[in-house]
Amino acid sequence: MADAAAAPVGVFDSGVGGLSVLAEIQRLLPNESLLYVGDCGYIPYGEKSPAFIRQRCRMVAEFFREQGAKAMVLACNTATVAAVADLREQYPHWPIVGMEPAVKPAAAATRSGVVGVLATTGTLQSAKFVALLDRFANDIRVVTQPCPGLVECIEAGDLNSPVVREMLQGYVKPLLDAGCDTLILGCTHYPFLKPLLTQMIPASVAIIDTGAAVARQLQRLLGEGELLAAGPARDAQFWTSASPEHLRNILPMLWNKSDSVRSFPM
Ligand code: DGL
Repeated sequence: MADAAAAPVGVFDSGVGGLSVLAEIQRLLPNESLLYVGDCGYIPYGEKSPAFIRQRCRMVAEFFREQGAKAMVLACNTATVAAVADLREQYPHWPIVGMEPAVKPAAAATRSGVVGVLATTGTLQSAKFVALLDRFANDIRVVTQPCPGLVECIEAGDLNSPVVREMLQGYVKPLLDAGCDTLILGCTHYPFLKPLLTQMIPASVAIIDTGAAVARQLQRLLGEGELLAAGPARDAQFWTSASPEHLRNILPMLWNKSDSVRSFPM
């Protein structure tokens, strides 16, 4: 299995949000070589149809397979609700890790019994999210908040301007007013706003996101398939469907410097 284990892992998001997950994967699995595709030319997925997102995800999955990836991580809640079932049907023997808002851990952690979810419109409107609430949120109150506009700010590298500050404040206030003591970041872009968010909420309010759990799930799946790499890892490689120059410019802020940014070929 030595060669199969040395193959890279493909990590995908609609844009740069998945870099928050990529960081957790690299922290937990430093021997893994990582490929990253940001579909930045088609952001935001949160306002797109599930059929469109499925089509993009299929293209990216095909691309990762051509690159010899041993597994794929959908580092995007919106893409997961729209496409993970379809991809798993398409590639039944290829490990695919998806992600969902952390309702289960939040339900266990809340003391006020009120939990807030910040996520995209697409995630919050999906049947998969409703099923998640049915399963884990029967004993708590969940207040949901779609956040149109935030993803575009983060894609532009804006993590702290008056515009993004005011927008975030407007989304968080109703959740705090409703008595939430736990906030779920249900979109992989939002962890980049954590420094700003912590300035807006009382210290007693907890923020939960799912990047670390996704990294652990990837570790588990690779372990089961005897696919954990022995290392050393090769440098991460990046592709974007928008301007490579733009991604190259904002990567140092969201990840670290990388010269390996290319155009996603479709
Ligand atoms: N990062 C994506 C997520 O986790 C969504 C961003 C978008 O709307 O494109 O849901």
